[in-house]
Amino acid sequence: MELFDRITRERYNYPNQYSSVKFVDFMMTDFSDSVEFSLPKEAEPIGAVVRGIFGYTRYEPTNPYVFHKVVPSARNVHTNEAYLVCCGNICRYNCKTNSFEFVCYDGREADSFRLVVVAELWRIMKFYGEFGMVLPLLDAGHILAQLKMDLEQVDITRGRIRYGAKDAEEYERLGLSPQSQFISMEIDFSADIQLPHVPIVESSCWRAINYDKEVSSYEISRLFLPYEAGFAEMPLIFDNEALGPFVNSQDRESAHNFIGICSLVEQVSQTWILECAYRLCKNIQHYMNYAPEYKVYILYRTTEGERLLTIERGVASQPREWIIDRNRLLHDAQHMIDMESMPVVVYVSYHYDRSRSEKENIYRAHIGASEIIHYISLAGAERGFFTRPMRNFEDAYLESALKASLGERFMYSLIMGKSNTKNYVWRMPK
Ligand SMILES: Cc1cc2nc3c(=O)[nH]c(=O)nc-3n(C[C@H](O)[C@H](O)[C@H](O)COP(=O)(O)O)c2cc1C
Repeated sequence: MELFDRITRERYNYPNQYSSVKFVDFMMTDFSDSVEFSLPKEAEPIGAVVRGIFGYTRYEPTNPYVFHKVVPSARNVHTNEAYLVCCGNICRYNCKTNSFEFVCYDGREADSFRLVVVAELWRIMKFYGEFGMVLPLLDAGHILAQLKMDLEQVDITRGRIRYGAKDAEEYERLGLSPQSQFISMEIDFSADIQLPHVPIVESSCWRAINYDKEVSSYEISRLFLPYEAGFAEMPLIFDNEALGPFVNSQDRESAHNFIGICSLVEQVSQTWILECAYRLCKNIQHYMNYAPEYKVYILYRTTEGERLLTIERGVASQPREWIIDRNRLLHDAQHMIDMESMPVVVYVSYHYDRSRSEKENIYRAHIGASEIIHYISLAGAERGFFTRPMRNFEDAYLESALKASLGERFMYSLIMGKSNTKNYVWRMPK
């Protein structure tokens, strides 16, 4: 568990040590020559889902982070990019041009139809150094939750998910650099969606700027980046009982501002929390097969006082009275975030699974925790609350305050409330 702990509960001991001035585009790393690629019509429903999730949806000039997507992202740099493998032709969705661009052709992929989610690591490691390397996995969990819901809406329910790369050669086939990019996850549609023969395009495009040197300067890259086989594959959906969509995924927001955040509403109703918990349990059962490795802690305040409700294996506990010192929850940024005023604070922990490799545990811990946080965010957004996911918390305090068991690690959190500011929002046309 050494590496696992190094990038989770000991992350603050490994501060950023190296900062390059090499420019990294916060939206998309450009190709040297970009050529548009037209998806075959059979691939369009998936293309539309990709545009909806990886494309920009909101422009907020009064927010410190200006362009936004339906999914959140650490530092708003949206490290993950979407690649589609369409019968040998490999293309990438470009969120600046809202189009697919051609990458390369590889005959070994001639029978494949996959969505591959690829992280451009320097975009986030530039800010956070070592522990920035795993933040794309948290971003990926939000993407995965949204993908599962959106694909289900267009009746695509039988894809299979794999965390990480399919095999060691995949980086080469997709024109990626394993020194500064990693495959967060991929969804394989090959068994269910037949694409027609797509004409071969005989050219290739590569990133105009390469960040191998910057990422490789961190020891963690040698420990974490090498390909490891044997990660489990999972279905997109685990039962036949289709869930109603969250109507409000467009309204999810973290409500960043320049002055600091407090919540104007400090209490919520017990009935609403029970509804949220019921809904989250359904999501966990349906999309995550009861998610036995994770535990969800929902701390909330009603007119009666502070309460804690937990969810394990897709089942919610009875709410209990729970006293916690909210001023000790954050590692830093206390002056920007008034935790005392937040009516709801959620934590997701992960039980290390010794039957899996350390690296698979790292992938599962991050992606699964944020998938859960995404579902609960949408329930909050429906209520008109901001829902800000946060990696910033004081692990040691949480472990004692929430009476964590041995081997349980806190992965991710969420604060929810009524925002004290209102940013100007311009919704981008679809
Ligand atoms: C993995 C992850 C970690 C984050 N950690 C923090 C954090 O520690 N503190 C914070 O204030 N916001 C945090 N955020 C919120 C982002 O800053 C926010 O999602 C981003 O600016 C985009 O804004 P939006 O969510 O309103 O679209 C995090 C988001 C993600 C996805």
